Amino acid sequence: MPEAFHTGNTTLNLREILVRGRKLGFEERAKFFSDWLANMKSHRIDGLLQRVIVSRMDRAVRVRDHHGNEQDMLMFGSNSYLGISVHPHVIERVLEAVNRYGVGMGGPPLLNGYSELHRKLEFRLAAYEGTEDAVIYGSGYSANVGLISAIATKKDVVIHDVSCHASFMDGLGLGGHASLTFRHNDMEELEAHLEATHDIEGDRFVSVEGVYSMEGDMAPLDQIVPLCKKYNAILVVDDAHGTGAAGPGGSGSAQQFGVHGDVDIILGSFSKSFSVSGGFVACSKAVADHLRMFSRAYVFSSSIPPMSVAAVHAVLDLLETEPEIHAHLLENISFLVDGLRKIGFDASDATAVFPLPVPPTMNIRLAAHAFHNRGIFLNDVEYPAVPLSGQIFRISLMATHTKDDISQLLSAIKEVWDEFASPAGDGLATPEPAPAAVQPE
Ligand SMILES: Cc1ncc(COP(=O)(O)O)c(C=O)c1O
Repeated sequence: MPEAFHTGNTTLNLREILVRGRKLGFEERAKFFSDWLANMKSHRIDGLLQRVIVSRMDRAVRVRDHHGNEQDMLMFGSNSYLGISVHPHVIERVLEAVNRYGVGMGGPPLLNGYSELHRKLEFRLAAYEGTEDAVIYGSGYSANVGLISAIATKKDVVIHDVSCHASFMDGLGLGGHASLTFRHNDMEELEAHLEATHDIEGDRFVSVEGVYSMEGDMAPLDQIVPLCKKYNAILVVDDAHGTGAAGPGGSGSAQQFGVHGDVDIILGSFSKSFSVSGGFVACSKAVADHLRMFSRAYVFSSSIPPMSVAAVHAVLDLLETEPEIHAHLLENISFLVDGLRKIGFDASDATAVFPLPVPPTMNIRLAAHAFHNRGIFLNDVEYPAVPLSGQIFRISLMATHTKDDISQLLSAIKEVWDEFASPAGDGLATPEPAPAAVQPE
């Protein structure tokens, strides 16, 4: 039966695969997808997901592609904004922690998984965010899932920006809470929702991101904090991409907008500026106590290992003792913004994340290979993860990139755009969405 669905059409897109696959049983569906992937690979037009890094995770990396070829590449796809994963102080503190505590805790924080290093980090994160306490989770994803599902009840309404991250949406789905969405950074629509819900029985939670991971812009917290105070709503800010990168000296998005200590609940991730993995929620002592008992992603999941905790401590040390690291990130941002503007892009210096919108004439898959072949590691964000009109290449800058690295990136962007974006170029547009026959039923 799978053959009947397997058209051999190498441009078949993922959405089409998912829709067709729904008609099959699980094992057939898995095989159907796996065959399709192999077919793409044999035509050498597979995507560039899960390229294998075979070197240190630095501003330049060695990468093995799906065909076993290795090449040196400049890394513009990592969210390690401070470029700190190979910093000697970080490595030293991690090694100390391994020697002192071993490699892992072997249990959740409520039982055996809570070291003095974990507790000290909670205090430090709370001080960083201007809150009373903080709670460490296994990842930013589980912090989001564990937070919203634990704090909101069926009587409450969660009002959120349409661009909030998938992990927040999953938390919302898990709790089955009533929610309202406002257009990205549209303060009028947010206020309209707050007005419209003034008489609900429960609480209103407003969820936004400090730095939006795909748009690369920031939530105007200087407007959102007063709005939440005016309407007595509880503000939750996911600052996964702002922690350590936004704000003066990497002090976070709340500091950038002068509202440090005024955000009710701030969530962060250790997988971006801190270069490891894990997440946290900074909040009042009462909310922290509540999460430690009622947030299932916290209660039923093992602690992050002391070495990750030590790495986060080390990065917090460096933000204090080596301010030039963050200053260099800011210099790199200005340099890239100037360069992008010179070659015709509309770039903002708000954050270290730069989306390059993919024009309708460009085949994003071919363009992605062109970047790869030029030794530039970029992430392409493809349909159906985003709508066809929203496809982007996403640049993440690191403090450790050199001006020469950024100049090479700019030259590659210009070449790829000249070849694939111009109506006169030979770039084939990305395949249209599947015909109606295979649209979701
Ligand atoms: C805004 C936002 N929140 C949460 C997460 C999840 O963080 P983590 O990678 O630590 O699970 C991400 C990561 O992609 C993110 O971009």
